[in-house]
Amino acid sequence: MIEQSRGDTENSRPKSDVVIIGGCGRVGLPLGIALAARGMLSVTLYDIDRAAVETVNRGELPFLEAGAAEPLRESVRDGLLRATTDAASVATTENLIVVVGTPVDEHLNPDLGAVPRALERCAEYLRGGQLVMLRSTVHPGVTALTERLLERLGTTVDVAFCPERIAEGAAMTELFELPQLVAARSQRAGDRAEKFFRTLTDKIVRMEPEEAELAKLFANTWRYIKFATVNQFWMMANDFGLDFERIRHAMTYEYPRASDMPGAGFAAGPCLLKDTLQLAAFTGNNFVLGHAAILVNEGLPLYLVSRLERRFPLSDTRVGVLGMGFKAGSDDVRESLSFKLRRILMAKARETLCTDPYVSDPRFVDLDEVMRRADVLVIATPHRDYRNLVTDKPVVDLWGITGRGVRA
Ligand SMILES: NC(=O)c1ccc[n+]([C@@H]2O[C@H](COP(=O)([O-])OP(=O)(O)OC[C@H]3O[C@@H](n4cnc5c(N)ncnc54)[C@H](O)[C@@H]3O)[C@@H](O)[C@H]2O)c1
Repeated sequence: MIEQSRGDTENSRPKSDVVIIGGCGRVGLPLGIALAARGMLSVTLYDIDRAAVETVNRGELPFLEAGAAEPLRESVRDGLLRATTDAASVATTENLIVVVGTPVDEHLNPDLGAVPRALERCAEYLRGGQLVMLRSTVHPGVTALTERLLERLGTTVDVAFCPERIAEGAAMTELFELPQLVAARSQRAGDRAEKFFRTLTDKIVRMEPEEAELAKLFANTWRYIKFATVNQFWMMANDFGLDFERIRHAMTYEYPRASDMPGAGFAAGPCLLKDTLQLAAFTGNNFVLGHAAILVNEGLPLYLVSRLERRFPLSDTRVGVLGMGFKAGSDDVRESLSFKLRRILMAKARETLCTDPYVSDPRFVDLDEVMRRADVLVIATPHRDYRNLVTDKPVVDLWGITGRGVRA
């Protein structure tokens, strides 16, 4: 660990072993906590979100992340982890990680500039000899774009692309268990990034930057297409009057070639759709499989409502939507299809009552009220809280968490 020096020559800021740009986000914060708590590194989280920075400096998580609360509290208490909105903190380290968000825009185009812009914003604090590790999920070519930008700025830094591959909610185990992809154009940059990530894991896979950019996008898109496949199977079985979960069970039971088949459900969240769209843009919008998967997955809420319309007089029906987070146990609502479902129902049903134990939103009501007032219940997010619902009202459960079948 680099010794903390209160009297940094230029700006009296403490030195850090690593500064994470975008460090108070869903990915940056668990990474920072892991590096501080397990790696015993001194970590600075630089972020433009003042509220998140203040929350972290109080030793509190701004969002749910299993197993992260205690090590965060301890790391802040022990002075190993601090958050700041001060861009000059970037100058206090040899090791920089960039993990800002890389969303698609309102027209579904990827923004190739998100990562370079984040570095440009703190360009005056970059120092020669630093190692800049890009960790956001990026459109292919962004590492090269960033390298060119840094060259133009006249900074001689090493650049590596080391994508984050954790699933939200599992970061505090996966950061230590998943192999880390390390990609760089120069041997020295690769060696430095490898040495850095050995703080977390011994499993390192060295690659070229463009290979790693595609590896990350292919992995997310592969998952998204798998979900689309089962969602389409579910619709086929459902239209045929059959319970897809019984078919899936038969297919996967002691049958290794289908054993990784997921169940049906909303394929949502901040990454899978966005990264499929990044690949679609990369292939000149000619990604037939990817676009088909988007049609299926994004069309699922509308399909569900069309099924409800067949079974119930919707304009006279109060529909309860259980779960607004994008996945089980999560308070993250980014790209949650529950909201799409809500929007469609609000145009068609007598009333739409939404609830979620992890997400607070003034538009939502508590579960008891939904259970009391709704005529039909739709499990939109498979929170474990809904596994043992006691009700004689109709429940639509395409996830199959209640064991009542998945027909809609
Ligand atoms: N969320 C996931 O499960 C997950 C998993 C793997 C990879 N990723 C990728 O990681 C990246 C980050 O995702 P996330 O979910 O953590 O996003 P996020 O929005 O939760 O976090 C990004 C953080 O960056 C901060 N930020 C934005 N611009 C900044 C700037 N110029 N300087 C400093 N801070 C800035 C934001 O305030 C925010 O706190 C994305 O590329 C995403 O695709 C996400």
